[in-house]
Amino acid sequence: MKNAVPALKLKSGGMLPQLGLGTWPMDDAQAAAAVALAISLGYRLIDTAENYRNEQGVGEGIRAAGIAREELFITTKFNREWHSIAGARQACINSLQRLGLDYLDLLLIHWPNPQQGRYVEAFAGLQQLQQEGLVRAIGTSNFKLDHLQILLQHDMVPEVNQIQLDPYHPRAELIPLHVQHGIITQAWSPLGRAGELLQDPVVVEVARQHDKTPAQVVLRWSTQLGVVAVPKSSDTLRLQQNLSIFEFSLTDEDMQRLGMLGRPDPEMLDADIFGH
Ligand SMILES: NC(=O)c1ccc[n+]([C@@H]2O[C@H](COP(=O)([O-])OP(=O)(O)OC[C@H]3O[C@@H](n4cnc5c(N)ncnc54)[C@H](OP(=O)(O)O)[C@@H]3O)[C@@H](O)[C@H]2O)c1
Repeated sequence: MKNAVPALKLKSGGMLPQLGLGTWPMDDAQAAAAVALAISLGYRLIDTAENYRNEQGVGEGIRAAGIAREELFITTKFNREWHSIAGARQACINSLQRLGLDYLDLLLIHWPNPQQGRYVEAFAGLQQLQQEGLVRAIGTSNFKLDHLQILLQHDMVPEVNQIQLDPYHPRAELIPLHVQHGIITQAWSPLGRAGELLQDPVVVEVARQHDKTPAQVVLRWSTQLGVVAVPKSSDTLRLQQNLSIFEFSLTDEDMQRLGMLGRPDPEMLDADIFGH
């Protein structure tokens, strides 16, 4: 099947599809089924992590899909115990073994864990892995402004920063720094975990105007901003709907209305305090 999903160019040269499959909180069996199904529907970007404990299932799904490895873009992430040069290498090898792959398209530091204070070493480990060819692209997840600025002071530029982002969490504090340094923004929980956001009156009204679902409007909003989204679904129809957001466009007015929905969220995880 031809992949109609646009892709963004990474600093290291590869192409990152703008829409992929999130696999948390799937277990191995659920991940194997969802990954194989998603690939058969046209998904090429798959997002997993050591912490999801489903890399083995993701690998099974990839093999079951029977598609050439180079057509896929596989992302995983490692935990704080691996924040060192040798640790990042071991984490990568462990993930490759669980996935049954011989390289990763993107490896991310899952959380900065600033109390531990070793994410600079972890990033140096990523740089070595990239030089070795075990990893094609390298990046961070959940890094806030201060954490990115410390990396930048060491001339370390993540190719991607994967953060919580949706119309309720537009992350205006972070995006300009990403743009300034060519860091691609990747959105986790891009549907707001299918909570209140998908019933928001503005989202519902824009969806009605375009004859689309609220989830499609929310995903279209993020990708139209130049963000990569990795919504999770195990359902065939929703997987198809989430992938088919490149057939319509939101107007400037829609984008502005959706862009004004941001609001403080006292329950949002703070990467200065939370991390694994
Ligand atoms: N880097 C990090 O720290 C971090 C943290 C959290 C998540 N993530 C990644 O981001 C991915 C996505 O985040 P998430 O799973 O938390 O939230 P999400 O993708 O915003 O929402 C997932 C929920 O939305 C439902 N859904 C999917 N498509 C839908 C549609 N078209 N209409 C209505 N409901 C729909 C899913 O149910 P069904 O399955 O029943 O369709 C599921 O309950 C994760 O899977 C993971 O890969 C990364």
